[in-house]
Amino acid sequence: RKLFTAGLIGTAVLASTAQAEVRDIRIGVDVPYEPMEYRTPDGELTGFDIDLGNALCAEVGIQCEWVVQGWDGIIPGLMARKYDAIMSSMTINDERREQVLFSDPYFTPPSAWFAPTDLEMGNPDVESLEGLTIGVQRGTLQDNYVTDLYGDVADVSRYATADDLVLDMDSGRVDIGFLDYPVGKSTLLDSEAGDYKVVGEQITEPKEYFGDGFGIAFRQRDEDLAKAFNEALATLKDNGTYEEIHAKYFAE
Ligand code: ARG
Repeated sequence: RKLFTAGLIGTAVLASTAQAEVRDIRIGVDVPYEPMEYRTPDGELTGFDIDLGNALCAEVGIQCEWVVQGWDGIIPGLMARKYDAIMSSMTINDERREQVLFSDPYFTPPSAWFAPTDLEMGNPDVESLEGLTIGVQRGTLQDNYVTDLYGDVADVSRYATADDLVLDMDSGRVDIGFLDYPVGKSTLLDSEAGDYKVVGEQITEPKEYFGDGFGIAFRQRDEDLAKAFNEALATLKDNGTYEEIHAKYFAE
């Protein structure tokens, strides 16, 4: 009889531990990455990811605190428990899936080439990029793609932040940049600093590089947390909140 009771208690404890997994969390993010995550002139974090992340946390019913972290240490920071999730325009791909658990994709933009309007070149390929300086953010899928395909014929300049890359484009130290399309649009096409254009097609393939959209990354064992965020994402898509946030940052 005693064993039986202990078994029941054990089950109850297990069940409540599973629920307790969804607690207040901290979320790591690399800024600036406009319009996804950046700061207002008075230093407040803002952007599509920030608004969506805050709405998701509210829907899950938890408090979330943002922790700013450089991109190249962003997965190690998750492992070291500096924060419990990453929401930083991180593309879901197989290489990262080995290290982290991703939510369902919440946004699926292409990548694109951006150059000053006066750069004359054809469709970006090994021939047209030969001898040029290509700028990317270090450790991004754009870095991997450019390094693998064009690293032998072009100079690849790798920047810690997207902002550093844009600065060097504005000053002419970089001929052409390869970025997540919305970020290039916001920081180059729509910027006052220079005249820029998109060169060639928007790029989404091969999957091996361009993955499956942006996801929120969790530690592998935080399945309950991922599940709670997936459910919240589905709710925000159903009830119009997602669309509202999207329209705020991607008005046409
Ligand atoms: N989407 C690209 C990737 O996953 C770049 C993301 C960079 N994000 C950032 N907040 N700096 O590799």
